Order: sequence, then C-alpha cells, then structure tokens
Amino acid sequence: MNAPLQPASNMKCSSSLVILFVLHCCTSLSLRIGTRSSKLAQTQARQFQEIIERRHKGIKATIIPIDASGDKTGAAAKTSTQQLPLAIQGVDFTGALDEALADGIVDVVVHSLKDIPPANRWRINADEPRIKIGAYLGPRENPLDVLLSREYKSIESLPVGGKVGSASLRRQAQLLACRPDLEIINIRGNVDARLAALDRGELDGLILACAGLKRLGILSDDNTSYKCNPIQADVLLPCAGQGIIAVTCRENDARTISLLREVDHHDNRIAATTERSFLDSVDHLSPWSGRPPVAGLMTPPASGEELWHFRGLLATPDGTEVLTVKKSLNNNNCNETAALNLGRNAAADLLTQACGDFLDGYYKL
Ligand SMILES: *[C@@H]1O[C@H](CO)[C@@H](O)[C@H](O)[C@H]1NC(C)=O
Ligand SMILES: *[C@@H]1O[C@H](CO)[C@@H](O)[C@H](O)[C@H]1NC(C)=O
Repeated sequence: MNAPLQPASNMKCSSSLVILFVLHCCTSLSLRIGTRSSKLAQTQARQFQEIIERRHKGIKATIIPIDASGDKTGAAAKTSTQQLPLAIQGVDFTGALDEALADGIVDVVVHSLKDIPPANRWRINADEPRIKIGAYLGPRENPLDVLLSREYKSIESLPVGGKVGSASLRRQAQLLACRPDLEIINIRGNVDARLAALDRGELDGLILACAGLKRLGILSDDNTSYKCNPIQADVLLPCAGQGIIAVTCRENDARTISLLREVDHHDNRIAATTERSFLDSVDHLSPWSGRPPVAGLMTPPASGEELWHFRGLLATPDGTEVLTVKKSLNNNNCNETAALNLGRNAAADLLTQACGDFLDGYYKL
C-alpha cells in the first residue's frame, strides 16, 4: 500500500481509514472450513487446515463440522441386502455443506472429490454456478479400491458365493463381471460400521477406497488385523476423483479463490479435470434417468515416460456388459483444456459403443 501521508488537517479522515484498513486485515486473516462430521471428513479438513496455514502464515483457519445426510450412523448404518434394479438417482451427499457455503456460513468446504456430484446433479449449481472447486490438494492418495478380509487376499480367492460388502453400483458391476457367483451386500454407513460387519463375520470381504483407509490410519503396514489388498485398476476401476481431496468455494469469492489457487496441485487438477469431465459427459449425454455404473482413472506418466493414460468404464449394474475406453495424452500437450476434451471424447466414444438401449430394463427412460 502506497497511500500518501495525509496532511495534519485531514487527520480525522485518515485515522478512520486506518481503522477500516485494520478491520479489513483482520477479517481477511480468517478462513472458515466446512466439513462433514465423519472422522474421515474431519481428518481431511485438518489436512487442508495445515496446508493453508503453512502456506499463508498468519491465516486463522477454523474447522466447522456440518451434519450432512451422507453420514448416517447407528441404526441407519445397519446392513441390508441389495435388490436389483437399484435406485440410485441423484444421491447428493453435499447438499447441507453446499448450502452452508453458498450462504456464507463457511468460506470453503473440504470434500473427497468422489463425493461431489457430477455437474448435472450438483443441485446448488442448477440455475447458475454458485460453487466451484477452487483447489485439488496433492499429492493424490492411492486411487485404487482395496479388499479387506480376514482370510482372503484377492477377488479370485474369495469362496464361491462369497459375500462382499459395498454400497457402490460401480463396484458391484465390476465384481460381478469377473465373479458372477459373488453376493454383493449393500452396506452403508461410516468405515467403523462397515468394519464391524466384517468383524461379526457377516461378510467374507469388504471393498473400500484405499485412500480413506490410509487417511484414517487403518491401512498402516503394521496392521495385521485384516488382509488389505489393493485391487488393480484392470479388475476394479475406481470412481472418478477417488483419492483426491477437493476444496470448494463460492464462485464470487475472489479472496478465497486466490488463496486456494496457491495450494492447488497441478497433476491432480489434470487428473481430476479429465475424470470429472468424463463423468459429467456420460451423465449429461446419457439417455438414462439414473446414474449407471461409471468409472474413470487418469494416471500421470510413469518416470521416464511421456504419456498420461486414461481408462473409462460403463457397465450394466449386474456386470453382464462392461464397456471400456482408453485414451492417452502427451505430457507436452497436457493442460486443463486438453484434459477436459479428453474426458469428453472418451465419454462420447463409450456412449457410441453403448447405444441408447444399453441399460433398458435397469432404468426407466
Ligand atoms: C488396525 O485397524 C483397526 C481397524 O479399525 C484399527 O482399529 C487399529 O487401530 C489398527 N491398528 C494399527 C496398528 O494401525
Ligand atoms: C492446451 O494445449 C493444447 C495442445 O494440447 C493447445 O493447443 C492449447 O493452446 C493449450 N491451451 C492453453 C490454454 O494453454
């Protein structure tokens, strides 16, 4: 600030300017972080709090837990057997958090990227975008799913007719595609509730995202309570965005947008942009009312190589048909626009393969 010194006659005016300036400074040093109230969500919020406070010395970031419908515990977390066809339309875990953000109760919300609905179903943005993703934190945690079991090390080694817990249609479809004999048990609730079902012997295996388990410390190398085996992407392709933490902010909040820009992770932005563009386009272009099983993963070039690799998948819920698409992008041409286009093109390819009647019988048109 190069404000010229005020002459003495203007003293009154200049001191009120100083007060205004001080007030502005103080308010601009605080950042209210909204999060779901689950243990995992709060762990992720603390991770962001550390990153932002380290980056901007003097910022005071406070975490404000907000109850969201996605975090049912107790009775609501009990297991139930899944029936086909599944009702999966428009599940929106982010509603309460989106509203707190749009209403200015918090300045940012920290999410697992995979929990943010595709653009079409992100209700708060239905009329005009009010919320955007301001940063993807890095580095990406392992994006794969993991099989937790007391006895079994892999999908192949599960017993005939084995019971596998998962609430995700994406996992169900892919598991049944390679093991049609398995029984998929629809298990919801937080990680502890799901592990408890495994402990009670109600399941032979439980599928969870590797990233969440790692962040909770359950997947530490010295933990011998469970066999924890990552499932390779050619067996079980993860959800778009899995393993990436995203921070949302108000579309018109320039101060927060610029704060977030500084903690954004380039490779995660590229991966997230591709995967979400793919997901958004499948969702937008598809003629089906519900969200079909969709998976997508963009992997950065291995060391010494130049190509990013994208793999996308669309399946019927019972796994009888699985369509896949693969694309790559040279690192030298890799920017956000290229990533966006790659995701869109992959979705268009897949939907051409699928034709309009791919999911007839699963979803009402
Ligand atoms: C192992 O995982 C269990 C399951 O939740 C957890 O309670 C325990 O703290 C973990 N132990 C270690 C050593 O990480
Ligand atoms: C992004 O990369 C493409 C090549 O893949 C290039 O044509 C385009 O100009 C780049 N856009 C920006 C904004 O840098």
